Amino acid sequence: ELEQRDKWATKLGLILAMAGNAIGLGNFVRFPTQVAQNGGGAFMVPYFVALFFLGIPVMWIEWVAGRYGGRYGHGTLGPTYYLMARESLKPRSALWMGVISGMLASSLTVLLNSYYLHLVGWSAAYSWFSITGAYFNQNPGDFFTNYLGNHAQVFLFWGITMILLAIAVGQGVSKGIERWVKVMMPLLYIFAIILAGYVFVLGSPVDPNWNTIDGFRFVWSPNWSYLGNNLWKVMLAATGQIFFTLSLGMGIIQNYASYLGPKDDVALSGLATVSLNEFAEVVLGGSTAIPLATAYAPKIVPADVLAQGKSEALAWIGQKFGLGFAYTSLPNVFVSMGSAGKLFGAIWFLLLWFAGFTSAIAMYNYLTAMLEEDLNIKRSIGTWLVFLIYLIMGLPVVYIDGYMDQADAWVSFQLTLLALFDIIVAVYLFKPDNFWKELHEGAWMEVPGWYKPIILYIAPILLLLPLIGMFRDLVGSTLEWPARIAIIVLLALGAIESYYSIKKKYAEELEKNEVI
Ligand code: PHE
Ligand code: NA
Repeated sequence: ELEQRDKWATKLGLILAMAGNAIGLGNFVRFPTQVAQNGGGAFMVPYFVALFFLGIPVMWIEWVAGRYGGRYGHGTLGPTYYLMARESLKPRSALWMGVISGMLASSLTVLLNSYYLHLVGWSAAYSWFSITGAYFNQNPGDFFTNYLGNHAQVFLFWGITMILLAIAVGQGVSKGIERWVKVMMPLLYIFAIILAGYVFVLGSPVDPNWNTIDGFRFVWSPNWSYLGNNLWKVMLAATGQIFFTLSLGMGIIQNYASYLGPKDDVALSGLATVSLNEFAEVVLGGSTAIPLATAYAPKIVPADVLAQGKSEALAWIGQKFGLGFAYTSLPNVFVSMGSAGKLFGAIWFLLLWFAGFTSAIAMYNYLTAMLEEDLNIKRSIGTWLVFLIYLIMGLPVVYIDGYMDQADAWVSFQLTLLALFDIIVAVYLFKPDNFWKELHEGAWMEVPGWYKPIILYIAPILLLLPLIGMFRDLVGSTLEWPARIAIIVLLALGAIESYYSIKKKYAEELEKNEVI
């Protein structure tokens, strides 16, 4: 069993795959939107707090847990967290920890990806629309609405993306995913650097009063009074963004880490993943959409809002368009650039497509691994079953208004909840000393001792606050029936799946129920 399991072929491949996993639409679309909606520089303060006290610790925890599970042939959270919880609990109690964690992970990889894949599909479509100039003689806002209304077109670009994903995942980890990311990730960085470089030399393209510098200032000058007046909201947003952007609380970092050898470094590699993602987020992501939108604000924002000042204008862009920041505001910018805009538009959307693809592939692989390891379904067949799951779960995204936003709101909550189980199971029940030892097994760096209390005490406290805050609103008002049903069904299926997979593999010790 141990010999047969696929492994990353090269260190570089592993790091690029993990970076690809983390770097996604979150870096280039969600991050600028969150910054714009949360007072610019006000957002960056809790953002870095959450990164340092929560993001980095949970990243390490997930790498450790994943490599540990892989040692026993598991790439999913159910059996992995069962084994870790068993260090403190009797098998039958540990079973429940595995069931809850496995349920949260598998339902997330279905729910999140079911709409994420549609966003990735939009990006494919918009690369095409940019290079062909399809939206150049129209109002980009109307064009976007029409595009979403044309379901055949939506499914065409979604389908192209999905078929490529199915093929890549079907080829396996080292022969599939690793090879694909080795091409896509360098291209992604090149595209992002081209765009950010262009922004740096852009200056004031349409109006001397509006310069890219204003955008940089908006992001980088801490706005303490805004933060003071909106502390809770901004903190929630910042924590949510850290989880989302680092792909934490999903099970997919563990899944990728499960294809490591038992003595492969996790400490430095985990930190490298965070660093590569943050470079792509605050440096590259922070230097594209917002400064571009500021420089072109007179073309995007209504005159009366413009008159109120720069941060108001940016807040307006964030508030008004939300996700449309990328798909409607920026197309306005590309149109204003004339024919160079076709090229820059295509580069922007291809960048999004690569970023989204290499994240979606991780969720895709989680489910394929689940079918493979728990249900003995061959990868070459499982990959098409997963295709079918995403096709079905993508239907409400396309056909039910508001469903995607509600699913997304719930996802932010569930990510945070699963991260709490990361700490409970993979640190506390696994036992903090075991965890610390595992973290340093084969490690290429030593984590300073003062980080231990951060992982043990500060991280879980920081997690509990947003969890409580989010749950109230969600269950109270946000969710409507289609989203509720999807969530309940996915949780139930996830629980059943994890239960049987653990039962099947560890029947004997569960029978005896003695501390191991
Ligand atoms: N981290 C990815 C991004 O920034 C999104 C993602 C979240 C992917 C959770 C998988 C799981 O876009
Ligand atoms: Na990210």
